[in-house]
Amino acid sequence: MKLFYPVLGAAALMVAACAQDGTSSARPSISVTPPTEEILPAPVPTKFNSIKTSRPVLALTFDDGPHPELTPKLLDILRQQGVRATFFVLGSNVAKYPEIARRIVAEGHEIANHSYSHPALTKLGAARMNDEVGKTCDIIEQATGRRPLSIRPPYGALNASVEHALLQNYGLNVVLWSVDPLDWKRPGSAEVARRLVAGAQPGAILLAHDIHPGTVEAIPEVIAQLKSQGYTFATVGQLRALQDVVVPSTSIAKARASVSRATYLSPSHGGTARK
Ligand code: NI
Repeated sequence: MKLFYPVLGAAALMVAACAQDGTSSARPSISVTPPTEEILPAPVPTKFNSIKTSRPVLALTFDDGPHPELTPKLLDILRQQGVRATFFVLGSNVAKYPEIARRIVAEGHEIANHSYSHPALTKLGAARMNDEVGKTCDIIEQATGRRPLSIRPPYGALNASVEHALLQNYGLNVVLWSVDPLDWKRPGSAEVARRLVAGAQPGAILLAHDIHPGTVEAIPEVIAQLKSQGYTFATVGQLRALQDVVVPSTSIAKARASVSRATYLSPSHGGTARK
């Protein structure tokens, strides 16, 4: 019986360590008889409004560009501030301004798909879907050398079959948002800044449009205020990597129960099951 507690304790610690160091997708490396029930990782989500994280990090995202004057102006601001963002671009605009798309990528930002001409994807058949989504992936890749990994459907219009098709046919995750300042209604840069800052929280995805002058004017204030609150900025892809690993407590309990049973039955520990 003296051996029992240290062995169980060590196995439990290994389970706990896996939960902490972000390797929960692998099965816990317990050196006793494997658990009778498989511990499966949680399904990986492919649609995001925000990311669960305890770290003070969030993502600025800009839709509908590139715009010939405003996007370069925004890129200057972001470069000066050392901030990386995500640009959900229209294929039609990348075709017109490929050099701005190249600059987005060259300066460390993420470029992502926002369709070719901004339709509601839920209203399209397969052929139009390919013109809007597949063609935009190709245009972005031709302009920047980078194939997008994410899409933000125009208007956030989405249903299960569109979401499935985006992932299955184009390998695209859906990125929505957690803060919408309604900047397209052009409420003025101070109000856009106030709304964006008010919605900030760890893991937030802030929506804005780099085709409205007031939005771009608001960004220095947004960055200054969020920095003063201790926030750092990440692209959507970086933000996903910072997601807290959550292992359901039932999985941990099952793992511990399995370890416990295995230890009781192990011949090296007496071979007698204790009830
Ligand atoms: Ni849009």
